[in-house]
Amino acid sequence: MIEIEGLTKRWPGADRASVEDIFLTAPEGTSCALIGPSGSGKTTLLRMVNRLVEPSAGTIRIGGEDARAMDATALRRRIGYVIQEVGLFPHWDVAANIATVPTLLGWNRARIRARVEEVLAMVGLDPARFAARRPHELSGGERQRVGVARALAGDPPVLLMDEPFGAVDPVQRAKLQEEVLRLLRQLRKTVLLVTHDVAEAVRLGDAVALLRDGRLIQHAPAADMLAHPADAFAAEFLGADRMLLRLALFPVAALPVHAEPSPGPALAEGATLRDALAQMLSGGTTTAPLPGGGSITLADLLAFAGGGMGRA
Ligand SMILES: Nc1ncnc2c1ncn2[C@@H]1O[C@H](COP(=O)(O)OP(=O)(O)O)[C@@H](O)[C@H]1O
Ligand SMILES: [Mg+2]
Repeated sequence: MIEIEGLTKRWPGADRASVEDIFLTAPEGTSCALIGPSGSGKTTLLRMVNRLVEPSAGTIRIGGEDARAMDATALRRRIGYVIQEVGLFPHWDVAANIATVPTLLGWNRARIRARVEEVLAMVGLDPARFAARRPHELSGGERQRVGVARALAGDPPVLLMDEPFGAVDPVQRAKLQEEVLRLLRQLRKTVLLVTHDVAEAVRLGDAVALLRDGRLIQHAPAADMLAHPADAFAAEFLGADRMLLRLALFPVAALPVHAEPSPGPALAEGATLRDALAQMLSGGTTTAPLPGGGSITLADLLAFAGGGMGRA
């Protein structure tokens, strides 16, 4: 669990605080995505959590313990940190990069080696192929996977990720998001993720926190924020397609099943309401068949979406 109370950062000489009086809790095993325009204080907030930036005021507790009272080794054991690109040491091979924290923690060589292989496999990289490569011998997507593996190496309960997929092409990015989502669920990490991409935020964040000028505008479960933005700024930032983003968060199982058969190909296993809507629109049908039999209807889908959007 991460608990942030009254957190403020005022840089010397600045006329306003970059982060101002923020209260935010990420419960154990959940992820919170921080979004907001460039300069809204996302990175500063994140870097205060792992003490790369000294707060001007406020407290941060990690697993109930005051982060400022912990020594550096204890903090590193608890917090993994993933940033865009620049995170890896260029002259070290992948194995050495991943071994950084385990080495700091004083693990023996056999244990470190086993852990390096384990976390490489977790992020989908074959240790035999990748352990001895240098960062420049990897694709952008592979480098980010190594960054995630490195953050996981010491098995920290908390992960901080700052635009982790920012430099990766869209196809790789979607794949990485999916795999990281699966990993985070499986490992039950508590995560703060900074991104400027609303779709990424609602996909990876159980909750979303929206910042503007250092202030917290709204903090809510992803589906709730998309349905009910706190104000005009939030609605504009979330975008005109927020209703579609929201539909992508729900499986077709959210709708009642009708026994009547429906024409056309069955929806894929794991299809979302957005997939179902796309199929109905492209096929010109008002129903869609489910993989296990039965069908769902456009009327139910619109009622579900309309209810969530809080229409009168
Ligand atoms: N080291 C620093 N010294 C002075 N001002 C800084 C420093 N780092 C960030 N800032 C300022 O703090 C504000 C928030 O920056 P940042 O947290 O990087 O925003 P974001 O990550 O949301 O784009 C910006 O106005 C930025 O100029
Ligand atoms: Mg930033």
